[in-house]
Amino acid sequence: MKILVAGGAGYIGSVLAPLLREHGYAVDVVDLLWFGNRLPDDIRVTRRDLFQLTREDLEGYEQVIFLAGLSNDPMAEFDPAMNFIQNGALPTYLAFQAKCAGVRRFIYASSCSVYGYTVNQLYDEDAPVTCAYPYGVSKLAGERGVLQLQDDAFSTIALRQGTVNGYSPRMRFDLIVNTMFKCAIEDGVIVVNNPSIWRPLIDVRDTAGAFLRAVQADYAISGVFNVAYDNFTVGLVADLVKDEIQALTGVKARVDIRNVQDYRNYKVSCDRAKTYLGFHPKYAITDTVRELFRHREEYGDFAEDRYYNIRVFKQLAANTAG
Ligand SMILES: NC(=O)c1ccc[n+]([C@@H]2O[C@H](COP(=O)([O-])OP(=O)(O)OC[C@H]3O[C@@H](n4cnc5c(N)ncnc54)[C@H](O)[C@@H]3O)[C@@H](O)[C@H]2O)c1
Repeated sequence: MKILVAGGAGYIGSVLAPLLREHGYAVDVVDLLWFGNRLPDDIRVTRRDLFQLTREDLEGYEQVIFLAGLSNDPMAEFDPAMNFIQNGALPTYLAFQAKCAGVRRFIYASSCSVYGYTVNQLYDEDAPVTCAYPYGVSKLAGERGVLQLQDDAFSTIALRQGTVNGYSPRMRFDLIVNTMFKCAIEDGVIVVNNPSIWRPLIDVRDTAGAFLRAVQADYAISGVFNVAYDNFTVGLVADLVKDEIQALTGVKARVDIRNVQDYRNYKVSCDRAKTYLGFHPKYAITDTVRELFRHREEYGDFAEDRYYNIRVFKQLAANTAG
């Protein structure tokens, strides 16, 4: 089966595309390469804006996976117009072209950010979505556009991922566990802005596994699925990272608690993904930290811009403006 991974040279795609190859799928990637390309040679990578893809370009693919767009709140807030175009319009456009080209399934990388602020409730996919910030609204717009195209011949799946963490050849240190890992190793201090807010989290290997399960699912299956390992308070995440770093290095980091309000607070149920997709996450936070630590020689300078999406994005904007 031939699969196109749109935005596949990013953090998640750099783990997912090789996993799909391992499972025997022919994988092509189209990506603007904002963060470079660290994909293996057996994956054909084309540097191109996805808005330029026509239905002819999509003919011959059985499935398309969408991982592109602006992938966090700071990017969305820095350029809200581009956010709504890249996260709302682009997945809808590509799914439409894919459907016209005879693609059987379109899988969209959605986000649990769509839930917004919930207090003491476990949200499943039928719960109300209350986000009112640009990133969450745009991810919801993309999700709805894609799902709208579903019919008997065109399966659409949206995976609402919790915050993804862990090692990828295209590394990010602007994701909660990865940031805490970096701070514990480098500064010996993990700053926690608000210890009581909740987040669903998932290791990048498990998120890649969830996409693989979506690819393999019966074509009768469509819809929205939450995917996370579990829900954690940010305070607990800091303690788990601190303890694991101490076990690995013998060095005890300090947790510095601040009391900054956050407009995002949500916990989700992943029962639907388990029941329909056979999704069973394997990696706990301690496993994520161990994997990050195993690759520590590769990171070099943690301060490099490439590890932080917003910095690269601001440079791209400055270069375009210039
Ligand atoms: N990382 C997370 O914690 C997380 C959580 C929930 C949802 N998501 C979603 O998953 C997807 C992938 O996340 P990631 O962390 O791998 O992001 P990333 O920023 O590392 O990768 C995004 C990739 O898309 C490419 N891209 C963006 N716009 C493009 C366009 N118009 N044409 C071609 N390529 C384009 C970029 O060059 C980049 O390589 C995103 O849609 C994100 O919103 C991520």
